[in-house]
Amino acid sequence: MAKNKVVSVLTLQKYKSEGTKIVALTAYDYATAQILDRAGVDVILVGDSLAMVALGHRTTHSVTVDQMLHHARAVTRGVQNSLVVADLPFMSYQVEMTQAITNAGRFVKEAQAHAVKLEGATDLTLDIVERLVGLGIPVMGHLGFTPQAIHGLGGNRVQGRTAKEAFKLLRDAQALERAGAFSVVLEMVPHVVAKLITQRIGIPTIGIGAGNECDGQILVTDDLLGKYTDFKPKFVRRYANLAHTCHEAVVNYARDVMSQDFPNDSESFEMQEEEETLLRSLLADQPVVDASKLAREPL
Ligand code: KIV
Repeated sequence: MAKNKVVSVLTLQKYKSEGTKIVALTAYDYATAQILDRAGVDVILVGDSLAMVALGHRTTHSVTVDQMLHHARAVTRGVQNSLVVADLPFMSYQVEMTQAITNAGRFVKEAQAHAVKLEGATDLTLDIVERLVGLGIPVMGHLGFTPQAIHGLGGNRVQGRTAKEAFKLLRDAQALERAGAFSVVLEMVPHVVAKLITQRIGIPTIGIGAGNECDGQILVTDDLLGKYTDFKPKFVRRYANLAHTCHEAVVNYARDVMSQDFPNDSESFEMQEEEETLLRSLLADQPVVDASKLAREPL
């Protein structure tokens, strides 16, 4: 099913019109980006979720533009075909237009990202989308549960459960489309709401916890691989249990180091016999240290 061709914002629009589902995942490093790109993933998001998944913070708030750029550069080095979208982190665009343009521009200029993503649809956000698109920087929107607003939303909560809230989500998605966004992420909204929005906007919707009738799906790769285990949202399907696999591998490595099974001869380098003989003669008057006498008394 891998698509393996260069993906642009126009490709995604074409996929929506022909009903081809868009496959999106997150990556924060070179090796993961390479795996996703080679598997034919359409969109690779350098998500600000990296604050939690890669850096161990409790929310996405702490990650800085410079940290995001560091990861975005690593990702784009590993990508040949996928469309790379970089998240604009918390307070890197919400202050004013100049700040938003400068920071979005850095992702394209310094990290070779193809597009940026920002959350919400306030008047300022919509103006920013319009300006960035006018400057040639494609923008992905993000509605529903928007992690940068977690405290205002009262936690990790499904959004758009009432008709009024759902209607507001639709109006916001339409406003993002009018502002020029090429796509919009719908996070944690009832599947019927995501479907109704998907049918009423002309740009692709990418769902996460939003049912299977969006134009595409995205997950945090570390969730899908079972590598990030601090918590598992209801909408995550685990396709592997890497935390367990990695734990087993590390335990086995420790066992082999301690038993001197690792490294074996084929994992070691040889020295020519005559060189070894010469070295031993050079070391003839060098006493061998008695390692058992090296241990110091505990303080
Ligand atoms: O930061 C992220 O990983 C995201 C996805 C969950 C959509 O925004």
